[in-house]
Parts: sequence; C-alpha cells; structure tokens
Amino acid sequence: MKEDKLIIFDTTLRDGEQSPGASMTKEEKVRIAKALEKMRVDVIEAGFPIASIGDFEAVQAVARAVRDSTICGLARALDKDIDRAGEALRGANASRIHTFIATSPIHMERKLRMTPDQVVEQAVHAVKRARQYTGDVEFSAEDAGRSELDFLCRVFEAVIEAGATTLNVPDTVGYAMPHQYGELIRQLRERIPNSDKAIFSVHCHNDLGLAVANSLSAVINGARQVECTINGLGERAGNASLEEVVMAVRTRADVFSCVTGLDTTQIVTCSKLVSNITGFPVQPNKAIVGANAFAHESGIHQDGVLKHRETYEIMRAEDVGWIQNRMVLGKHSGRNAFRSRLEELGINFETEEELNAAFASFKALADKKHEIFDEDLQALVTNQGMAAENERIKLVSLRVCSETGEIPCASVVLSFDGEERSVSAEGGGPVDASFRAIDSIVGSGTELLLYSVNNITTGTDSQGEVTVRLERGGHIVNGQGSDTDIVIASAKSYINALNKILMPSDREHPQGEV
Ligand code: KIV
Ligand code: ZN
Repeated sequence: MKEDKLIIFDTTLRDGEQSPGASMTKEEKVRIAKALEKMRVDVIEAGFPIASIGDFEAVQAVARAVRDSTICGLARALDKDIDRAGEALRGANASRIHTFIATSPIHMERKLRMTPDQVVEQAVHAVKRARQYTGDVEFSAEDAGRSELDFLCRVFEAVIEAGATTLNVPDTVGYAMPHQYGELIRQLRERIPNSDKAIFSVHCHNDLGLAVANSLSAVINGARQVECTINGLGERAGNASLEEVVMAVRTRADVFSCVTGLDTTQIVTCSKLVSNITGFPVQPNKAIVGANAFAHESGIHQDGVLKHRETYEIMRAEDVGWIQNRMVLGKHSGRNAFRSRLEELGINFETEEELNAAFASFKALADKKHEIFDEDLQALVTNQGMAAENERIKLVSLRVCSETGEIPCASVVLSFDGEERSVSAEGGGPVDASFRAIDSIVGSGTELLLYSVNNITTGTDSQGEVTVRLERGGHIVNGQGSDTDIVIASAKSYINALNKILMPSDREHPQGEV
C-alpha cells in the first residue's frame, strides 16, 4: 500500500514564542530554524512579520538562511499583514503565507464584531491577496474547534476556490476531544465539494493535555499536515509536541497510513537547543525528550531490557538522538576546531570579533571543565548572544560567603547604564543574597515567578544552567545563565531576565485586537 506523506509544520518560532517569556532573538531563531531544517521539517513558521520590526527581520533572516524547508509567515486576514509577510518572505527558496480569521460564533460576535458573511468575504479576499506573493497559501479558521460545521464547510469551500492550498483546523482553545476532532476532520473532507484540492491541517492546543491525541485522531481521519512545536512549547499550555507526534506515527506504523520525512535522530538536539534558548526546561518524565524517557529504574525492567530490549522498549533511544554527551572539544582544541564544530551545530558568527569573544569564553570554560560537549557549546553561544544584545546591566564581579552557622551574604559589582556600582546584601542563601544585592542596585519592581537549575551535562564539574522567570505589570520574561559555578550562573540568569524586562516591547499579539 502506498503511504501518504504527513507534512510536519513546526511553529516553535511563532506559536512557541507566544509562551509567556519565551521570546527569542533573530540569531536564536536562525539557529533553531537551521536545526529544524537539518531534521528535515517540511514547513517552518518563522514568525508574525507585522508584529514588530524584530519579528519582521527574524522572518526575513530565517527565509534567507534556510534552503530546504518551506518558510512560512503568519498574517491576519488583513492586507497590511499579508503584504508585510510577503515582503519578509521574499528571500525564501520556498515560501508560504498563513492567513487566518476566526470562525466560531463567540469570536465573530465578541472579538471581530463581524457577521459570518463578512468573515467569508474577508477570508476569500485575504487568500487572493496572499496568492499574489506565493502559490503556497494556508488558511486557518481560528477557533475551528468551537465553530459550526456548516459554516466551516462554507468558509473552507470558498477559500479553496480563492486559491488556498492548505486548510488548517485549529483547536485554538484546546477544547476538543480526540473522537470529536477526528470526526470533524472526516466530515469536512466528506462534505466540502472541492476538499480534494487542499491538504487538511491540524493545530491543537494542550489546555486539556489532549493536543497530541487530537492531532493523531485527525491524522487517522485524513489530516495530512500537523502543526506542532519542539517540546510542546506554545501559547498557554502549549501546542502538540513535534517529537511525540512524529514518534507516534513512526512507532505505530500499523495504525497510521502515512509517514513523515523527518530525520528523527535530530530530535533530542533540537529539544535541547530550544530548551536552552527559551529557558523552558524539559520535565524529566516528558515523552521522547525527557531525561528519564529511556531510563529503566526498576530491577525487573532492567533485567527484561538486558535479556531482550523490546520487552520494555518500544523505541530505540538512538533513533531520537540520545547518544549525545560525546566529548567534542577540550582545553587544547584550537580556534579552527571550535569554529568548525559550531558550524556543524548550525552556529555561524557574523564577525571575527564575535568568534574571538566566543573562543575566549570557550577557553575560560575549558580551564574549569576539561571535557566540553555540544550542550556546553550551545549554552556558551546563548550566553554570548545575550551579553551582546542586552547591555544595560552587566555583571562585573560577584563574591559570596556561605558558611555553616553564618548568614549568607553577597557582594556584587554591576555596570548599570555604563556606571559601575557595588553593593552587599544578606539572604537565605548565596543565591538569594546575590539577587537581593543586584535588585538593590536595579530597583526593578519585579516578582520572581520561577528559579530553576539544571545540569547541562553530567558530573559535578558540569555547567549549571539556571532559568529565572520574572514578572512586572503582566509582562513576563525568562532569563538564562550558565556557568560551572551555579551561584554565578544564577546571577547571570537574573541579570539576563532584568535586561529583558527593561527593554520596551512594541510587539503585537497575532490573536489580539484587530
Ligand atoms: O491557535 C490558533 O488558532 C493559532 C492560529 C493563528 C493558527 O495559533
Ligand atoms: Zn495556536
């Protein structure tokens, strides 16, 4: 039997970035896009170009850097959005415009304040306009999961007629149940007269923990594109996780009559990269990419796996890329070896100065930690990028005291807007004391929502990677920092978060007010 192709549409850089605090810089987006291209993702949604100049430039940079995947830009069903997306995608080898408008009664009445007829008219107009830029146009009926079937059929038939090549059926609020959602896809395919002229796509949110289940149910019922994100990142509870969808389709080939074209051995690398860049750690028991996903704790399981692997393992760890932690570079490695390993990881420096600065940090790290792994290099480059872009607050030095029976204290020297300031503070521990000292200089008025520490590799000489999440007036940011000394890593991540919160944001949310 001939198997269909299941198109994998990754939206880590767009919907993933809508996770509170997960915003990424242009360079970070290009790094992730290159990793997705290497994994052979079919379509990369690189962003929402109208949202801000930064978003526009990031989509443009991804469109120029990636050759093998189609690059997609999101646009509301508005001329100005579509024109901006078309412009941002101009340098792409293969481009797609993804335009959307809400179709559920509640969204049409309360958010758009439009009649159903107006919505159909605007959707058709938007698709026709997008076709002026590219032959690959996706139309999404936002909140399709709560839309009326007859109306969805009407909108989709009209947009296919207008030139849409992919029809996306988003469960925007994560409300659907797998059997209902699968049935919705089946009904749409059966009832829309020209349904064979377009690919049906799904985009599920995880509010009830059903995003992957809903997506797979849709695939069984004929959807041939799944929109997903690395590590399930995304608005609120996130989107369907790419790694889970892809490995379910591959592992249960008996259930799905389609295949993806992905190189699954790149999954763990992509997961670590996204986690490292966004500062969203992966929970240890997360399917496929969690640290425990292939670890067998109980004696019975270990015994079974040793006798015959398939007794307890349905997938092979190496098939998803769990063979990392190879020592790649060390203290004696030279600049060329450093540069070429980074290039293999998809990291290129724009200037020799940037390379030199990163190489100096690498040498400093290699003095403290003899074996340098790919994960260390990724963290180092992330740190470097952050330092270059967020210059308002810089850590000059930090000294802490931690002794049994004594009150922990920290002395910090910061450069704040170019002026060097030093202060000491006490706290519950050295990290707490450092944060108090830093904030007594900055006076940020922020609330600490999350503080978490992870080992980048293994061993007590491993770098600690710290994530700090701060909130001020509803604005949430994540900061990261890594160092072999976790108190310094903590201070770096706190400063990184403070730098982000001090930056003005002019960004529009795609699903906000039109
Ligand atoms: O969740 C959603 O409906 C979206 C659309 C823009 C596709 O993200
Ligand atoms: Zn979404």
